[in-house]
Amino acid sequence: MRPFALVLLAACAGATSTSTSTSPSTSGAEEPLVDRRHGHRHGHPHDFGDVERFEAIFDAPDRDEWQRPGELVALMALEPGATVVDLGAGTGYFLRYLAGAVGPEGKVLALDTEPAMVEHMRARVAREGLSNVEVRAVAPDDPGLAPASVDAVLVVDTWHHIANRRRYAARLKSALRPGGALWIVDFTEDAPDGPPPEMRLAPEQVLAELTDAGLQAEILDEELPRQYVIRAR
Ligand SMILES: C[S@@+](CC[C@H](N)C(=O)[O-])C[C@H]1O[C@@H](n2cnc3c(N)ncnc32)[C@H](O)[C@@H]1O
Repeated sequence: MRPFALVLLAACAGATSTSTSTSPSTSGAEEPLVDRRHGHRHGHPHDFGDVERFEAIFDAPDRDEWQRPGELVALMALEPGATVVDLGAGTGYFLRYLAGAVGPEGKVLALDTEPAMVEHMRARVAREGLSNVEVRAVAPDDPGLAPASVDAVLVVDTWHHIANRRRYAARLKSALRPGGALWIVDFTEDAPDGPPPEMRLAPEQVLAELTDAGLQAEILDEELPRQYVIRAR
């Protein structure tokens, strides 16, 4: 298998890695907004264009066991009528849980940089009758959200794909309404799957990035088996 294919395989939920790719920079303003080191088609750190391949991983029948999507969304305590963002929504694994939590008066914004994922999600949302979900293509460096327009942002297995996370976090902060929260869920260092080890972010590092962006962040006790959960307000 070619090195790029290894990185691609390893970058995603459900894949264990032996990749030797270099780690994205995590320091401040000097870091590039888009990390191009892995040679990607759409200007973000990994190419998620092969939807069929990723569907088999992201929507694997055994994922619910360790991802516990219902529990995670319950933890977010979304109010009926709320607006929630699924950033890096991928194949749309979380959408029905989020759509159910905010109800018909609420709204789910499913954002992704990958056009093939966006197209896939639009078809899925129509098929599943999720009328309160809007799927949007976004740029890698900007969620394109209006100031104070959303109540919650969920970022699952995606934060490590963002190149300039402090700047991005500041953008998310400005999009949150008063009382709103940003939720970041990503793989722990010792999880049996997830991105290659050198791309994994320690929760303390994510905490520091969010704090630098002016958010008050905490690592929650309610840990998932393979991931940490961070809430920032
Ligand atoms: C590992 S998948 C996670 C998908 C989904 N959150 C899940 O848990 O099943 C990462 C997704 O984030 C998207 N992505 C990567 N960088 C992004 C960015 N800067 N903004 C929005 N989406 C991004 C990718 O296209 C991909 O669909």
